[in-house]
Amino acid sequence: MHARPHESLRLFFALWPDDATRSALQQSQSVLGGRLVPYENLHLTLTFLGQQPAAVVPTLTDVLTHMPAAVLTLDLDRIGYFMRNRIVWAGSHRMPEALNVLHEELQQALRKQAVNFEAEQNFKPHITLARNAPPPPDTGFTPVTWHADRIALAQSVTTPEGPVYRLIASRSLEQPYWLRNEAATPGAAPTPTGHD
Ligand code: 2AM
Repeated sequence: MHARPHESLRLFFALWPDDATRSALQQSQSVLGGRLVPYENLHLTLTFLGQQPAAVVPTLTDVLTHMPAAVLTLDLDRIGYFMRNRIVWAGSHRMPEALNVLHEELQQALRKQAVNFEAEQNFKPHITLARNAPPPPDTGFTPVTWHADRIALAQSVTTPEGPVYRLIASRSLEQPYWLRNEAATPGAAPTPTGHD
């Protein structure tokens, strides 16, 4: 983390897709207009924090580390459109309740740590595929099953070419943190423990 203490960073928590899911989503972008979200930027925002002082990053990393483990299976089976901001997105007709639970637990943990952010009233889980886009064509969408097992704290860096998302920290949701080796860093592969 090279941020100066008084710097402010635009931050968010997100589920971070694996390469196979990214590739499948990228294929679904081929029929879309507008500004396509680059392969490496595809993600599902859990909580948008907006501008935060760099000094709060260790607290956010700690929240990430202690999130309960919950691998989610998301059946991405629909393309949607937010007309107001001209966003085409991938989502599901049946998002699992576990995703709402993860979202709520994250918000609670942030509130408990007194992180100053504007909680969304209405969580609409989606993966943005294209911005400033016309409505998507009605050509169908090949469903993608995503075993979402990676959660990340990301920084959105504005560049002339568009936003670049830098992962400040990420971890697997495969196993709870307490099953890890003392020496393991957040996001490192879990140490086998004999537990299932
Ligand atoms: P998106 O999830 O619809 O693409 C980083 O900017 C991420 O946070 C993006 O994924 C973005 O939208 C989301 N985001 C940006 N501004 C936001 C806001 N004001 N409220 C909620 N989410 C926002």
